[in-house]
Amino acid sequence: MSETITLAHLSDVHLSPVRGLPLRYLNVKRGLGYLNWQRSRRRVHQRPSLDLVVADLKAHQPDHIAVTGDLINLGLPAEYAAALSWLEGLGRPDGVTVVPGNHDIYTVLRGDPGVARWASYMRADAWGVRFAEGGRDGFPFVRCLGPTALIGLNSAVRTPPFIAAGQLGEAQIAALARILDRLGQEDVARVVLIHHPPLTDQTPRRRALRDAAQLERVLTEHGAELVLHGHNHCDGHIDLASWRGSIPVVGIASGSAGLVHRHEPLGRYNLLSIVQDEDGVRIECLTRGLDPTGTFMEQIDRKVLSGAQVSTIANDGPLVGDR
Ligand SMILES: [Fe+2]
Ligand SMILES: [Fe+2]
Repeated sequence: MSETITLAHLSDVHLSPVRGLPLRYLNVKRGLGYLNWQRSRRRVHQRPSLDLVVADLKAHQPDHIAVTGDLINLGLPAEYAAALSWLEGLGRPDGVTVVPGNHDIYTVLRGDPGVARWASYMRADAWGVRFAEGGRDGFPFVRCLGPTALIGLNSAVRTPPFIAAGQLGEAQIAALARILDRLGQEDVARVVLIHHPPLTDQTPRRRALRDAAQLERVLTEHGAELVLHGHNHCDGHIDLASWRGSIPVVGIASGSAGLVHRHEPLGRYNLLSIVQDEDGVRIECLTRGLDPTGTFMEQIDRKVLSGAQVSTIANDGPLVGDR
């Protein structure tokens, strides 16, 4: 018997607008971040573009939506609250899973709850709670999507100005290894969600995951069926060799870009079809995004990530140039 799950992957929406920087929350990092937002980023991350992307994503009726971090920009209370409203519009907590990015855990909060506002989107479900390890802020957490398990990691740590690096820490990586082993025995497809690119040499040092080598080793030794990440604001696909076959490591660009900026394309998302049957797990990835005018959504790419060709996504509409 075959079971299929469709998982939409959205990332780095960097919600706009940023409505000022209150004096109480001003420090060097936020001040520089605010200048960068005003000078450059506010022209890139546009809410109308994100709304087009999200409308298209919803029209495809995925079974679940994964948001891999950088929902906001400067770690301001008003931004966390606005992001919670946006998440509530995206879907219910049991239909949307979030992991935080470096812009979500940014700098001192002065008593504000920060990403804790999004806790209902970042915790285990009733099935996954058995895998809870009591780690940092509840990470890693596990959620069940039929024959697929989502494993949420937190790679975001506060850093000095100009540093966008991440770190999982020894405890979270060790917990992940145990969870991957246990889930492997449950015969589910293991999908790991993380903001920072998880492998070594995927991004410059000041923006990289500091313990990528350790994470890469755990993935290689304990296995996973798919890893999804954001942070680079561009698409990426690397097959990581493991003893049970290759693991697709897939990054998606920003979901809100309304302007091409350096290597960063216009807003887009991935729609992953994860098929599990007696032959194993097969995954196909459909990338949809804004056309060059930024007005319509179109198919950007379509590829098989693992296993044989599957056709479940094709039923959703025309394959080329659909708007
Ligand atoms: Fe980002
Ligand atoms: Fe990031």
